Amino acid sequence: MKALILAGGSGSRLRPITFSMAKQLLPVANKPVIEYGIEQIARAGIREFGIIIGDTGDAVRAALGDGSRWGIELTYIPQAAPLGLAHAVRTAQPFLQDDPFVMFLGDNLLKSSIEGLVQEFEAHQPAATILLAEVPNPSQFGVAEMAGERVVRLEEKPASPRSNLALVGVYLFSPQIHSVIETLQPSARGEYEITDAIQGLIDAEGEVRSVRVEGWWKDTGTVEAILEANRLILEDLSSGLAGEVEQSAVEGRVQIGRGTVVRNSTIRGPVVIAENCHIEESFIGPFTSIDAGTRVIRSEIENSIVLSECSILDVPARISSSLLGRGVRVVRSEGRPQVSRLVLGDSSSVELP
Ligand code: TTP
Repeated sequence: MKALILAGGSGSRLRPITFSMAKQLLPVANKPVIEYGIEQIARAGIREFGIIIGDTGDAVRAALGDGSRWGIELTYIPQAAPLGLAHAVRTAQPFLQDDPFVMFLGDNLLKSSIEGLVQEFEAHQPAATILLAEVPNPSQFGVAEMAGERVVRLEEKPASPRSNLALVGVYLFSPQIHSVIETLQPSARGEYEITDAIQGLIDAEGEVRSVRVEGWWKDTGTVEAILEANRLILEDLSSGLAGEVEQSAVEGRVQIGRGTVVRNSTIRGPVVIAENCHIEESFIGPFTSIDAGTRVIRSEIENSIVLSECSILDVPARISSSLLGRGVRVVRSEGRPQVSRLVLGDSSSVELP
């Protein structure tokens, strides 16, 4: 079995961050989100990975390399334009050939392992096995209609959903999927939809099985979702202090990287601070990740993701629920807001009132 990871797309819901960065490389607990999926699939024993890349392909290649870090082999597959998930499969057909494969959306995070899913697929050898999760807002997802355990119908983002079971970004396919994709037409939004392809398998009397997701599942395609993903990953953080901590209170589970200095501050976990950061006279609150080389001086921040080489200096109100790109600078100016909420592209500079 092979793996196909999708790391193209346009990432429009995460602008401006995605103007300069692949959303699959955004860090969750200081690790690029795509690496969680790669690790999970590698743990299921799969070794040959294809990675669909788009405009941000060079950065994805630079970040992941040849896969030897995980004992796997990565093949990069450029997709000319982000024309949909089924289009990505069609683009990858020369790599996939006649092998069954697991397809994983590169911006998705899953708590449970996929080993059970792979075993289920291998034991029954259906046309496809899809992973489903109950969601409160099914009309924002691909939705499955079930008859007992059989999937009988799929719809992409339906106005009147027939169930609350959404397709999670993990799919297992037999090579039969390729002949269906050959016949697909673009949907109303102009994309070749994977839900239409799976519906095509059902229409051709192919067996489509489903497995319910265990634990949480998160699509990190929006600011709110990636912050929640960060919270979920930080819930399981273990402590580790490799930097220097002077006259500071470190409460709960906290990781501090090598070369980082924390002085006269309170760090309330779960918090992860990478290498070579400087934290002084500040509060770093629960559920915050701070990437390498960032400075936080006389400021407070909680429930946020801060990328590398940022400067947060003398900010009067606590920064909360924020996502800061690389090299962002937030400094004090006049006035006194109570809370600041920021979504900033790389190298942005903001002066708060
Ligand atoms: P989406 O998040 O559905 O699409 P998107 O990346 O275009 O984002 P937005 O809706 O905010 O504009 O894509 C799911 C995953 O699949 C994501 O990791 C990007 C990837 N993808 C491709 O690789 N090729 C494609 O043609 C599409 C549509 C998505």
